[in-house]
Amino acid sequence: MEIPTYKEEPFEWYREMRKNSPVYREGNMIHIFKYNTISKILSDHQNFSSQFRDLLGEEMAAMLNEKTTPSILLLDPPLHTTLRGLVGSAFTPRSIELFEPRIREIARMLAHAIVEKENSDIVSDLSYQLPIRVISEMLGVPESDSEIFRDWSDKLATSLGRGPDIETQYDMADYFYKKIDRNSKGNNLISRLSTVEMDGRKLSDKEIAGFAILLLVAGNETTTNLITNAILSLYDHPEIYNEMRKTPSLIPGVVEETLRYRSPVQSTRRYSKIDTEIEGEEILKNDILALYLGSANRDEEAFEDGESFNPYRKEKRHMAFGQGIHFCLGAPLARLEARIALEEFSKAVPGFEIEKPSPDDRIDSDIMYGFRKLNLKVNRS
Ligand code: HEM
Repeated sequence: MEIPTYKEEPFEWYREMRKNSPVYREGNMIHIFKYNTISKILSDHQNFSSQFRDLLGEEMAAMLNEKTTPSILLLDPPLHTTLRGLVGSAFTPRSIELFEPRIREIARMLAHAIVEKENSDIVSDLSYQLPIRVISEMLGVPESDSEIFRDWSDKLATSLGRGPDIETQYDMADYFYKKIDRNSKGNNLISRLSTVEMDGRKLSDKEIAGFAILLLVAGNETTTNLITNAILSLYDHPEIYNEMRKTPSLIPGVVEETLRYRSPVQSTRRYSKIDTEIEGEEILKNDILALYLGSANRDEEAFEDGESFNPYRKEKRHMAFGQGIHFCLGAPLARLEARIALEEFSKAVPGFEIEKPSPDDRIDSDIMYGFRKLNLKVNRS
């Protein structure tokens, strides 16, 4: 079986796999497609680990450990629990909410520029701009460095699922080391990470750099794709767009449904720490489990009429942000940015046409679902 990348729509393949081979072995990689199975695995971090550095050769692990500790995404308890507590106390939902007016200001300015231009690429003119500006400002990084960030973020997103990009990680670590100030009284995220303390434990330089890198990797491309994917889905459903313009309270439903229907993160991985079985298939210690969140999110057994886009749906327990101890720390920020982007976009844009994207316009990734560009023309009436 050929495992597709997201250069093509994966959803038909998922449907077939859910039906015929919901747990499918390919060498030491086990592909898993159903909601309930994935949910069980994500809830069992004792047996199914995220700590992939333990599987790397010693040389590679030493090279990576030189400048950053593994990010929380790739750690198991107890270190995961400690670090998540520390970074979580610097990156709280409250600190995110405080950013709302600034997010709105940026989104409004971008939406107005789109209307003025008439023809735009929604990715470079809106969906990319908003998250990178917001996270740069949150981290306290000057806007003049945003191009370097774009480059790093692109490189790391492409490397996801294909092995670590050590050079980029080194460059980014060196960049953030210079920003650490243990006596800072500042309120930006790097200042707060530099000074946060819990039970007498502070974050080390490597941990701060590792987390800052994770924010860029985990937060930018994903939120960009969420905004783009929402606009594409609204183009397919002009009646929902019209309704949303009249009733903005529908927007959070559109955001949730986009997360489910066109999940920006289509898959994640664990490895098995034990010999076991999953749904009758034998699993060996160190087998890698590829968990297709994007398939779970369309599983007919979890979502009625799961293959259609319906922002009014009641079941909201999609897995686009994962589940269990690694549940996305940035979910409140991603939701806020996407909601505000759609609010400002729909206020400014009465209607729009989209040039259907080709496979070449897709992000070349084994994990992310989204587009590099999406040409949009504003309809003024
Ligand atoms: C639509 C946007 C986003 C999506 C779809 C998304 C998706 C995910 C998923 C699926 C996971 C869990 C991965 C796993 O269990 O293996 C995760 C974890 C994480 N995300 Fe997000 N994310 C988004 C935005 C963000 C943003 C904006 C930030 C921060 C600025 C962020 C920071 C994180 C962090 C720090 C983790 C690791 C949490 C942990 O390991 O305890 N994410 N995200």
